[in-house]
Amino acid sequence: MIIYLLICLSLIKFNLAENIYEYKSYKDYKLYEVEGSNDILDSLLQKLKNFVELPYYETRDSKLEVLIAPDINSLFEQIISLYDLKTKVVVEDYSELIRLEKSGYRKNSAFSWTAYYDVDDIYEYLGNVSKEYSNWTQLVVGGESYEGRQIVGLRINTPTEKDEPKKIVFIESGIHAREWITPATTTYFINQLLTSTDPKITAMRNQFEWQIFPTVNPDGYHYSFTWDRMWRKTRSKSTFFCYGADPNRNWDYNWLKNGATSNPCNYQTYGGSEPFSEKETRTLSEYIQDLDNLLAYVAFHADAQMLLVPYSDSVEHIDNYDDLVKIGKTSLEYGYKVNGEKYDGPATAAEILYKASGGSMDWVRHATGTPLVYTYELRGKSFHWPPDRIYEQGDEVTQMMLGLFTEACNLNYC
Ligand SMILES: *[C@@H]1O[C@H](CO)[C@@H](O)[C@H](O)[C@H]1NC(C)=O
Ligand SMILES: *[C@@H]1O[C@H](CO)[C@@H](O)[C@H](O)[C@H]1NC(C)=O
Ligand SMILES: [Zn+2]
Repeated sequence: MIIYLLICLSLIKFNLAENIYEYKSYKDYKLYEVEGSNDILDSLLQKLKNFVELPYYETRDSKLEVLIAPDINSLFEQIISLYDLKTKVVVEDYSELIRLEKSGYRKNSAFSWTAYYDVDDIYEYLGNVSKEYSNWTQLVVGGESYEGRQIVGLRINTPTEKDEPKKIVFIESGIHAREWITPATTTYFINQLLTSTDPKITAMRNQFEWQIFPTVNPDGYHYSFTWDRMWRKTRSKSTFFCYGADPNRNWDYNWLKNGATSNPCNYQTYGGSEPFSEKETRTLSEYIQDLDNLLAYVAFHADAQMLLVPYSDSVEHIDNYDDLVKIGKTSLEYGYKVNGEKYDGPATAAEILYKASGGSMDWVRHATGTPLVYTYELRGKSFHWPPDRIYEQGDEVTQMMLGLFTEACNLNYC
């Protein structure tokens, strides 16, 4: 019976003639949550993946979340019933979420934190503030993308009396294209550093040199903004007419060891043809390697709501793990005070999420020995977060950064 259904699925796959010239609507795509043992869920997922393209799936804590196209909906439900698994529909029509997200966006209206913006607008915002605060900020280029975009960041470095170089805090955001809340909170945080009159925030700003990159995967982000909301990877061309690699599985540390695939057509976790095959990761890694005095590397993702420390594919603890956990806890406590939201961790991804190799944070730690290295998984549901509430996560992240550096300085890292 299952074989029969899967053959049907595979036939349907070739009938999915999509209009490729329009933003993919995701009309009537349902987001399912399926409960069961991880083994059963994995085998179910594996079977599905062999026959249909799944734009989004994730297994965690004996739950599978998967986004199902209307064409395969009834077959999917039949398969699920054969497996006899508890199932519920979490989102009836994913296109509704997309519509809500785009509602605040007006081309040519002033930049704000009540809408999501494409990469050109974000870069224009960075350009504007670098002029407005030209005495102590400047645009920096951290690398380049496959389609020829620059990876633009903002350097914030207020003058000091002693004129000594400060320790650098590096912030990486948007490496996964569809995690839109991460560039948005990152520009929100930039705005806080530039304009806040809270003495704690200005003191934090003045203490470090900041290098902040809101969209390190600009091609992918633009693609998710203009063609496919679920796009996660870069946009390089692979064999088999498939595009992109997962830029957070492509760094040269334990490449492809865990939680990554060598199948270029996989929507989510293709690790690339070799370590640093992607121009974005290669150029950005070179930029990072050239930075002297890197104190902290912070990466933002969504939306598992947790705080992760290296190494993502290991349950073994690195030498300053206890400090990282202590600092991370303070960071989460500061964040909790803003909205009462609890994050899991701090811990390694292997401990509380899943094993994943080839991520930026792990490479940075391994290659540069940077003492403070964190990945924040922000909040949301299947990458959706209402644009009129960006400020909630923006304020939370600002306080988390304050907590992080307050405790780090207490422990003499600063
Ligand atoms: C940048 O500044 C110009 C001139 O003030 C303004 O028209 C434009 O809206 C600003 N762009 C963004 C993205 O803030
Ligand atoms: C920037 O620095 C120059 C020269 O030191 C100074 O004249 C000017 O007032 C400063 N501008 C701002 C906006 O602080
Ligand atoms: Zn991510």
